[in-house]
Amino acid sequence: MGTPSAAAVSAKPPALPKIGVAILGSGSAVPTRVVSNDQIAALCDSSDDWIFQRTGIRNRRICDPADGESNRTLCTDALRRALESASVAPNELDLVICGTITQDMRCPSTACLVASELGCGTAAAWDIGAACCGFVYSLNTAHDLIRSGSFKTVGVIGCDTVSAITDYTNRNVAILFGDAAGAVVLRATDDVSKGVVAQCNHANGNGWQELYMPGWDEHIKDGADRALVRTGCLHMNGREVFKFAVTTFCSLIKETLDKAGLSVEDVDMFVCHQSNIRILEAASERFGIDKEHLYVNIEKYGNTSAGSVPLCFDELRRGGRIKEGQLVMFVAFGAGLTWSSSLWRM
Ligand code: UT7
Repeated sequence: MGTPSAAAVSAKPPALPKIGVAILGSGSAVPTRVVSNDQIAALCDSSDDWIFQRTGIRNRRICDPADGESNRTLCTDALRRALESASVAPNELDLVICGTITQDMRCPSTACLVASELGCGTAAAWDIGAACCGFVYSLNTAHDLIRSGSFKTVGVIGCDTVSAITDYTNRNVAILFGDAAGAVVLRATDDVSKGVVAQCNHANGNGWQELYMPGWDEHIKDGADRALVRTGCLHMNGREVFKFAVTTFCSLIKETLDKAGLSVEDVDMFVCHQSNIRILEAASERFGIDKEHLYVNIEKYGNTSAGSVPLCFDELRRGGRIKEGQLVMFVAFGAGLTWSSSLWRM
């Protein structure tokens, strides 16, 4: 190989192929066990009233390992349902991406286990760890890999089973989270109007100590309250995360709309991480988004981390509220700290 010519060096890279990306189907899965605020409050010095007033949550679903429920089974069920709704066979997938931080096993990835269980042949498979942003990060990654021509049909899952890393005597965490999975099937299409119109993906690791799971003792700050901060259990500085979430949520929506040259009124549906009803209300007030356009289901499921956005999307789609040609914005934020959005033309 010789040195490339000056003309070759200065030549523009080839334009991206004109490929659209369609969401062909969606699915979701939640554990069968319903756990009420009263049941949680009995474990951690709280109350149904306090939890509902401060979070909007009444119930959550929690996996019962004795019944064989786990992160892997929820992910598998969600993707199976998404494939069925898309009328796509498992072996037509050439990639499975799973956004999760609560895998049953650290190795191999949940995506590998799900692909094997569903019969996805030798499809590539990997997990993305971005906490509550896990699904939106994965969705953007899958979209861009399809648009670049690297993959054609991709299963994207978002799932967390935070119950597996929750100390139910720690009320900061115990009251908030539930378990759930959601999935979509994406496919390349000649209709170039379909796919992502604008996306934003951000992180700031300086804030990691606000929401994290210490792996071993050295991860715990000197002076931390050892009754609250335990290895293997999620720790959250709720107040700080709340402030981060409210400001980030609003700036993220604005950044995404600015990139797309659109306004709030152009968006048909906001599908947002169900972190806390007060955070969702703050964003809807700031932008004047009415209830018809910002979906909320936190009352039934709590905060399901990476599962919440695809679970909302699946409920909306199955309820006939997502239609071809509409603009739908997915928004998430969480541990890392991470924040991410994806504005789609359906
Ligand atoms: O999904 C990833 C991102 N996560 C989030 O977005 C979560 C963000 N944070 C939150 O949702 C909220 O911070 C929580 C729901 C976790 C807590 O609500 P808060 O309104 O921020 O409560 P706080 O920590 O400011 O505490 C207010 C009061 C305190 O009492 P005093 O000092 O006013 O007497 C707390 O001791 O409420 C008390 N408190 C509780 N009482 C009953 C705090 N937690 C509880 C509880 N039950 N679970």
